[in-house]
Amino acid sequence: MAATAQLAAALLLLLPLAGASDSDHDGFIRQVTDGGVSRGPGLLPEAQFAAFVRRHGRRYSGPDEYARRLRVFAANLARAAAHQALDPTARHGVTPFSDLTREEFEARLTGVRAGGDVQRLVRGSMPAAAPATEAEVARLPASFDWRDRGAVTGVKTQGACGSCWAFSTTGAVEGANFLATGNLLDLSEQQLVDCDHTVRCSAVARNECDNGCSGGLMTNAYGYLMECGGLMESSAYPYTGAPGTCRFDPARVAVRVANFTAVPAAGGEGQIRAALVRRGPLAVALNAAFMQTYVGGVSCPLVCPRAWVNHGVLLVGYGARGFAALRLGYRPYWVIKNSWGEQWGEKGYYRLCRGSNVCGVDSMVSAVAVAPPPP
Ligand SMILES: *[C@@H]1O[C@H](CO)[C@@H](O)[C@H](O)[C@H]1NC(C)=O
Repeated sequence: MAATAQLAAALLLLLPLAGASDSDHDGFIRQVTDGGVSRGPGLLPEAQFAAFVRRHGRRYSGPDEYARRLRVFAANLARAAAHQALDPTARHGVTPFSDLTREEFEARLTGVRAGGDVQRLVRGSMPAAAPATEAEVARLPASFDWRDRGAVTGVKTQGACGSCWAFSTTGAVEGANFLATGNLLDLSEQQLVDCDHTVRCSAVARNECDNGCSGGLMTNAYGYLMECGGLMESSAYPYTGAPGTCRFDPARVAVRVANFTAVPAAGGEGQIRAALVRRGPLAVALNAAFMQTYVGGVSCPLVCPRAWVNHGVLLVGYGARGFAALRLGYRPYWVIKNSWGEQWGEKGYYRLCRGSNVCGVDSMVSAVAVAPPPP
């Protein structure tokens, strides 16, 4: 099988967020999550699980399923403690996904391993951005965040659907459109989930096509958008979290895509920062291995295979010194918008250590430009 086909199948994402409600955030669970499992007050897994079930409104089919999920939850507490040891600047603990086994999580998260083919795919299939000069990189601000400038929509929730690639794509187009027009529009992931494969898929490259809730690639999606005419707003084509019949209406296109470019990993993180500041939020892929248990802080895992990127997200900013409560205090970091709802991570965001391609975050970075609105 072509390696690129495997990669196309690999880019995915996730997650059942059953009726989580903000109303029952009690001090109890907050204490557990905020303190990190390694410093937890010694609560029994049963008590933590009961709080988790309440907080996230989980309904299991009966006592057997409850008992099974409790065992999974307890195992995930142990895994979070292991992650904590490997990633001491972040906090790992109870998350909205603590009742899923790693296999369940990854089945929705990663189709296939990308292996070492990320670079070949990125370089081989799209134009590279003109590199920034050393002087431009040196002049970049020490920290930067597109959220402060109004270029980023609220955190969205993909649900139990491997559509991370669609959220990463819309995030990049939303940002590029904001830069071009000053308007922040909330754009439709569902159009990509339902329609992307219908336009560009040849019989030859069928496995490389984007495939709704079964994964895709952001750069494929830009190509689709250039061919189909553009992207509708979410209000016109709302998210359902399941693949459906394409209901794209060219008359209701809100944003047209002009072109897209790769930001080569070889340029290092300075080039990525330059592209971020110059072109807006960037679509990136990374290895999500530490994200199931991530609660907050700057994630800087000692071991996180960079060849295995499996999750599409949106790079929106960077900082110079992220404080982490645990030892090894300050790290430069990326600010990453995820699509697992606001209850995950830092209000839906992930901070990942910057500068050494941790979890492969530098390896598949792309920028998009939107066409100017018609006069
Ligand atoms: C991409 O599109 C933008 C907006 O139309 C344009 O300014 C830019 O020159 C284009 N870049 C490339 C490489 O074609």
